[in-house]
Amino acid sequence: GESCSHTHILAASNMSRTEAILRLLLALCILPCNTSISSAASTADAFLHCLAAAIPPDLLHTPPSPSYSPLLLSSVRNLRFVTPGTPRPLAIVAAGEASHAQAAVRCGRLHGVSVRVRSGGHDYEGLSYLSLDPREPFALLDLAALRAVRVDPARAEAWVGSGATLGELYYAVAAASRALAFPAGVCPTVGVGGHLSGGGFGTLMRRYGLAADHVLDAVLVDASGRLLNRTTMGEDLFWAIRGGGGESFGVVLSWKLRLVRVPALVTVFTIRRSRKQSATHLIAKWQEIAPALPPDLYLRVYVRNQDAQFQSLFLGRCDRLVSLMRAHFSDLGMVRADCEEITWIQSTVYFAFHSSSKPLELLLDRGTKPDSYVKAKSDYVQVPIPWHVWESTWTWLAKQEAGILILDPYGGRMGRVAPSATPFPHRKGNLYNLQYYSSWSENGTDAFDKHMAWVRGLYKQMEPYVSKNPRTGYVNYRDLDLGRNELGDNVTSYAKAKVWGEKYFKGNFERLAAVKAMVDPDDFFRNEQSIPPLPAAKGWNSI
Ligand code: FDA
Repeated sequence: GESCSHTHILAASNMSRTEAILRLLLALCILPCNTSISSAASTADAFLHCLAAAIPPDLLHTPPSPSYSPLLLSSVRNLRFVTPGTPRPLAIVAAGEASHAQAAVRCGRLHGVSVRVRSGGHDYEGLSYLSLDPREPFALLDLAALRAVRVDPARAEAWVGSGATLGELYYAVAAASRALAFPAGVCPTVGVGGHLSGGGFGTLMRRYGLAADHVLDAVLVDASGRLLNRTTMGEDLFWAIRGGGGESFGVVLSWKLRLVRVPALVTVFTIRRSRKQSATHLIAKWQEIAPALPPDLYLRVYVRNQDAQFQSLFLGRCDRLVSLMRAHFSDLGMVRADCEEITWIQSTVYFAFHSSSKPLELLLDRGTKPDSYVKAKSDYVQVPIPWHVWESTWTWLAKQEAGILILDPYGGRMGRVAPSATPFPHRKGNLYNLQYYSSWSENGTDAFDKHMAWVRGLYKQMEPYVSKNPRTGYVNYRDLDLGRNELGDNVTSYAKAKVWGEKYFKGNFERLAAVKAMVDPDDFFRNEQSIPPLPAAKGWNSI
């Protein structure tokens, strides 16, 4: 529309602050281009007034203020979502306490502005800080400041704010006791809020399962703006927030976690084998061996260029590890010299920064500006992929625009939890999670198209060899190629959502939708892949 081409912003001296904001939003196409100033004004104006009554001005940021852009970018990890056309929020609420999050929900509800919740900002499709629906004015509720970690080493429990990063959590746990740990993901800048909402797995999963398996309680703001805990939210909602994906059910402010025991020293190694050194054969064998190893032994593979890197964490000492590797996987040729015996907390640094001698304080670095474009997809492998397929994969990996493959072994504890115990269904029967990950820093559409085509092309090629009916994926490796929501009657369509929903959640999707219908029937908390309310049996046809 006309207003989209406006690039100048009138700064009439008598223009109200709200009107100035609205003009700016229209000029940037943040509001629908056909929105009339007066109707948008009443929505945005009323919304901002409502927020201002409950939230101190220094925590409320609107586009004209110089703090708005730096705050918006503060935890964006992906340059794909930092373009002039990326929709931006009406306002950012930098919550400093629970009442600010409650106000954001209440005001949004009252004035028809939706709320995107952001903890660590690592969502692969940017859904924590953007909306792809141009009709939908939205605000960003940023939880980064709610990041306190309180560890009770005697009880082996901790309370952690959603805005903490995994690195901050690990650091605090180790500072309280070197005998304790928390089983979660490998990247220390990932936010606790999104990670626990989608499951969360890393080097301890074969011994202890998912991060979400260790949640004992949570504090949540529901769609009416109420503050609930496990007792007041009830077991259905408490089930849904431990793996059902972020955003759909409410804003989780903090989590009570059960910590796990680790020995004083663990052992790590990384062994690199090139294609010429029989990497194909080793990967093919790894598929059967790694998921069946004792649960104390985690051995993943990173495939990049023409190399496979075998990276391991063992909850024990070198001697025993060498004999286990000799017994189970002698072809890898692991020897004593490969071992590094370190503390568990050093192992988190080792996996994140590829060296165990770097300072632990690196775990506290929340990261700065986004510096690359990222696209990822994921699969579950249930039957070993044939040798010849791996052999042909090297051609993909030799391309100039090639990304990497990450093979994360399941089995152990992962296979012993019932698929319906939490919304995360990928338990028994899955050998490993296969992630296709591409990141690049060249600007421009050529680079963009090539890298996106690489990820999508290899994913397509693998189709015959991975899980089927449905072809499953991990919700925390969010992928909008799997499908996205459509609205019917201002509520997300269940039938349309089922297409992507059953890939992430299999048989748990319907139960998630039933919980959604119970706790947020008006579908306030939504995004492009949020859980839709399950239609009442009667309403089926109209959805
Ligand atoms: P972000 O803030 O972007 O939120 C993700 C989603 O959850 C959004 O929809 C958001 O609205 C919602 N949400 C966030 N906070 C919420 C809250 N408090 N209440 C309700 N909803 C909330 N995963 C893994 O299992 N193991 C791993 O090793 C890794 N490694 C890894 C590395 C890198 C570099 C990236 C980018 C990602 C991973 N991941 C991962 C995936 C990661 O677990 C996933 O992206 C998480 O959702 C990120 O959580 P954040 O809080 O950072 O995301």
